[in-house]
Amino acid sequence: MQIRENVSLQGLNTFGLAASARYFCSLHKLGGLRTVMQWTQEHPELPVLFLGGGSNLLFVEDFPGLVVHVRLRDREVLGQDNDYVYVRAAAGENWHEFVRWTIEQGFAGLENLSLIPGTVGAAPVQNIGAYGVELKDCLHELQAVDWRTGELREFSQEECRFGYRDSYFKSVEPGRWLIVAVVFRLPRKPQWKTDYAGVREQLAGKELDACTISDAIIRMRQEKLPDPAQIGNAGSFFKNPVIAQAQWDALKAQFPAIPGWPQAGGVKTSAGWLIDQCGWKGRREGDAGTYAKHALVLVNHGNATGQQIWAFAQGIILSVQDKFGIRLEAEPGIIFHPCSGFTGQ
Ligand code: EPU
Repeated sequence: MQIRENVSLQGLNTFGLAASARYFCSLHKLGGLRTVMQWTQEHPELPVLFLGGGSNLLFVEDFPGLVVHVRLRDREVLGQDNDYVYVRAAAGENWHEFVRWTIEQGFAGLENLSLIPGTVGAAPVQNIGAYGVELKDCLHELQAVDWRTGELREFSQEECRFGYRDSYFKSVEPGRWLIVAVVFRLPRKPQWKTDYAGVREQLAGKELDACTISDAIIRMRQEKLPDPAQIGNAGSFFKNPVIAQAQWDALKAQFPAIPGWPQAGGVKTSAGWLIDQCGWKGRREGDAGTYAKHALVLVNHGNATGQQIWAFAQGIILSVQDKFGIRLEAEPGIIFHPCSGFTGQ
């Protein structure tokens, strides 16, 4: 296990930002953990960042501590019961490749989550979701290492306390748990989720199976979202806000076109729509901007810095607050200096 100093993270974050890590190591095998943990115990003043695909992070600053690049690879079918097939994947597996592999094995359940950037280990931290499905719908349990003690623990689906783009690992104990593997529960009698706007139209006249749905989702994402290999981005930059019913009623009266979906605790509205209405779609300041086809996606047109993207995001937050009285919340992990104990994965 080699710990290197001053390592560039530019190729390891999908914004393509030229940030660096003060210390850096790659974790290929669980056996390597002992050495890394010993090193961090000898450097208790340094924060630790677990890095997966770097697809949901904004480096506003260089990272002042140790970045652990999680590269654990492995996937296997564990078995089945009457209702489900159980499949396990190590944290460093690429998410989309894993989804396609499950489909090739003849399993369903993850097809709506096709083409989401990132790794298997990062997916539960955000509870990734798309086109009417969230990771929590198919997660059975996961294994994580307690960074304080080195103990390997299992978390049941309930213990992960999933919410909208949220989990125990993001909100309750960030930085404490390193997710090393995830077990999925895939239904043997799949129920296709094709109600999301646009999905049904893509699939019209086609016989449904996991592969056909996955292909349609891939096409939709490619049409609407920028490919990080072409334009740096981290997907949706803000969460869709949930507002109180009374505020919703007032906004609906003033802005009849505002989209909204009833939720526990109020109404979820579309951050993309709010930002679009404030005139930010396709706007650019230097190399920081919003994607021309989707206002919710912040992009790095080339040489933007993390500070420039963050400043651009602040401009959006202020505009939306002014016009609609709604405070947008960033979805990716934002890396500032100094920071401590952040589970980015
Ligand atoms: N809209 C606009 N202008 C825009 C973009 C969107 O008016 O520039 C409005 C439209 O009314 C559209 C609505 O926003 O119908 C919703 O847009 P979309 O279907 O693209 O979904 P989203 O709410 O913007 C969410 C997830 C995405 C996920 C899609 C599809 C969040 C924060 N984002 O986006 O997830 O792929 O739904 O399910 O929940 C991600 O988290 O990084 C991500 C890409």
